[in-house]
Amino acid sequence: MDKKLITNFDTLATSKSRRDALTIAEAGLQAIDTQVVLQNSIELDGTILRVAGERFDLTRYEHTYVIGFGKVACTAAYTLEQILQERIKEGAVVGLSERVCQTIDTYAGTHPIPSTQNYTATKHIDEVARSAKENDLVIVIVSGGGSALLCSTMAECDQGQKLFNAFLQSGGTIEELNTVRKHISKLKGGGLAQSLYPATVISLIFSDVPGGDLAAVASGPTCFDESTVADAQAIIDCYGLGDFILNETPKDLEYFKRVHNIPIVSNMTALNAMQASARTLGYRADIVSATQYATPKETAAMLTKQVVPGSVQAMGGETKVIVPEGCDGTGGRNGYLALSMLDSLQSGQVFISIASDGHDNTNAAGALVDSETISKATEMSLNIQEYQTNLNSFPFFAAVGGHIRTGQLDSNVSDLLFLLTPKISRDDATITDITAKVLPDSRGKETISVTVTAGEHSGTFSVPSGASTGIREVQVIPARAAVTIVADTVKPALLGTSVLDQSGLDATLRNLGQTPSLAAIGGNVALGVSVAACKAAAQVQGIEIWKYIADLFGHQTQAPAPRLFVNLINGGEHALVGSAIQEHQIIPDTDDVAAAHAAATAVQATLHQLLLKDFKKQDITIGDEGGFVIPSKSIEAPFAYVAAAIEQTDTMVPILMGADMAASSFYKAGEYELEGKQLTAGQLQTVYRGLHKKFPLLQLVEDPFAEHDFAAFAKYQSAQPAVTCIGDDLTTTNKTTLQKAITKAAITGIIIKPNQIGTVSDTLETMQLAYQHNIRCIVSHRSGETMDDFIADLAFGTKSYGLKAGAPTMPERAAKYDRLLAIIQTHE
Ligand code: PGA
Ligand code: ZN
Repeated sequence: MDKKLITNFDTLATSKSRRDALTIAEAGLQAIDTQVVLQNSIELDGTILRVAGERFDLTRYEHTYVIGFGKVACTAAYTLEQILQERIKEGAVVGLSERVCQTIDTYAGTHPIPSTQNYTATKHIDEVARSAKENDLVIVIVSGGGSALLCSTMAECDQGQKLFNAFLQSGGTIEELNTVRKHISKLKGGGLAQSLYPATVISLIFSDVPGGDLAAVASGPTCFDESTVADAQAIIDCYGLGDFILNETPKDLEYFKRVHNIPIVSNMTALNAMQASARTLGYRADIVSATQYATPKETAAMLTKQVVPGSVQAMGGETKVIVPEGCDGTGGRNGYLALSMLDSLQSGQVFISIASDGHDNTNAAGALVDSETISKATEMSLNIQEYQTNLNSFPFFAAVGGHIRTGQLDSNVSDLLFLLTPKISRDDATITDITAKVLPDSRGKETISVTVTAGEHSGTFSVPSGASTGIREVQVIPARAAVTIVADTVKPALLGTSVLDQSGLDATLRNLGQTPSLAAIGGNVALGVSVAACKAAAQVQGIEIWKYIADLFGHQTQAPAPRLFVNLINGGEHALVGSAIQEHQIIPDTDDVAAAHAAATAVQATLHQLLLKDFKKQDITIGDEGGFVIPSKSIEAPFAYVAAAIEQTDTMVPILMGADMAASSFYKAGEYELEGKQLTAGQLQTVYRGLHKKFPLLQLVEDPFAEHDFAAFAKYQSAQPAVTCIGDDLTTTNKTTLQKAITKAAITGIIIKPNQIGTVSDTLETMQLAYQHNIRCIVSHRSGETMDDFIADLAFGTKSYGLKAGAPTMPERAAKYDRLLAIIQTHE
């Protein structure tokens, strides 16, 4: 069909999303056009008539008759004549407007309220039906609206009118209405099948009833009726509809033996076409329901449940509208639903609701709404709520625009409605600016903060820095020089690319870096840009950062939520005095983050009290990661304090101990220097054995040996199989090095620090490899931190085993734990 059925298509299509929505609506309407569906489902091949797969040999029948009723009956009769031509002996149908045919008489009846015209037409139809004999074939066109149009007696007409008016106010479903209709009629509820008996009957069913119940269409004149007079009476009583004379429908199955009820079209035909059209336009399209009978509010909730950018949520059915007493508004169900949807629309979304016959109880087919509708209404000072309360949709759309016009259509299924959520356009995701500035980190050292902007959206990341840095970490360029590199090198290379292409932009950063250590631009520049772009991408998509990461990572899971690695006593390079061992952690052994956090804080408080017993207040200092630093070189002492604090704290969850030995920091000239003694790797392992024996809770140990000594790690791991041996300086979040550690069975855990490797993509790749080999990933902060909380999103988005972020009392560390708690709270 070249000509559009929506006659004001171009006037309404003022935006890309509107145009797409109208195209989808148009596809739905075209698919159910009566001529189209009949030509698609009926074929005459010589003397063989094929109807939707069923085969009828016309030589077997003496005469072929056509009768029909319903909104599309006249057009269907016309199309049948085109196909069957002089084979039709006689026919009579009643629809909404006459259509000039050769043999078949077409009548224009009234709908929804029956009238004498309907009665006159029905009389003729009945005559044709009665002339059919045993060897004849009767093709019956059954279409929506047939219940009102088919009126075998004037009494039925009167009862029909009364029933319809009473039902309008009741809030009952169309099925309930039809059940009563079947019992006030001689022809409905199988009555027609009885009067056609024993002729062969092909009933072509054009369903306007959501859900595809063939017996409900036009109150099922050719279908066996399961309902009884008692059922009909119960509905009448339930809604207080008044007094009706009821008759029983035919219950003898013999009448239905030669009847072929064949579905020709239903709202699924339209919904499938709309889904296909939406997909062609690049949307994800779901058919939410083909049977909705909900209130506008319930409909809105169903449609907005699964909304993602670039999606179409479609439904077929009828909105339940209860007309309040004294309400004098004008309009139809579809207009009213569209008007109600204004309360739920998000910016950019388009909602359309249309009556599939083009007649929404008014001369409009339905309406289209979006934010333009709201602006127009505001501009014109129209009170949307007032129009909603009065069910006054027609004047509203007449004023602000949005009525969809088609004229009377040759189709009639159910109402069709859908919500279109626009795709993210390329423009929304295109990088328009990249800036960087210098700021101090938690140690007062200069670092950089990078902002990537994509039109209205942006992401900012402040880069942390380490003290005990691994030799294989990417290079760090001093902050001021880094800012220049962002402006002069990175920005020109990435302007115009998409923030949604994380791997593409990370590849560009790697190329700009020139060497594996990203020497030319610095790992700090690369990571600043990479994470800022990742955050901007999440914003463009309107989703949380962790969710965006989960999508990039492929939704893999090591734990439902990360375990907290909370550093309570600092030493090594993170402290001026204290033990050579860098971190003494507690790890609440639970994925209940709130419980873990509460337990960790409680143990920290106990620990503080214990330390105050043995040291002067002013001698207890705070290390780089917020843990206590005690003036003692003893290796054992910090473990003993932590173990005692755990024991003396009443926590609801089990607590394990962890340590980051950061052994490279006390490895000098081939030996480890501990408590003033020089130790070989073997001797150090003996020290560890002693610690494990004394502190059985110590079950997670990081970098027990220097960063080159994979063999020592492996020996330790096999000697302490219950301990998670974690690589940090050893592996530096580097996939190749991790592979080596895996091959050598050196570790069962790995610290993940994005700034060791320089990009989000590389970080995720290393994690992928770790997950494949059951290596526990612990996403980690650095000792020099900023207020940025990205690592919490990274840990949750990848569902990693742990999150290591220092002591919860320091603001730059607390930011990470707080973010994780917030994610979990909103996630549940
Ligand atoms: P760093 O310390 O950030 O100084 O490297 C943390 C760690 O070693 O885990
Ligand atoms: Zn470490």
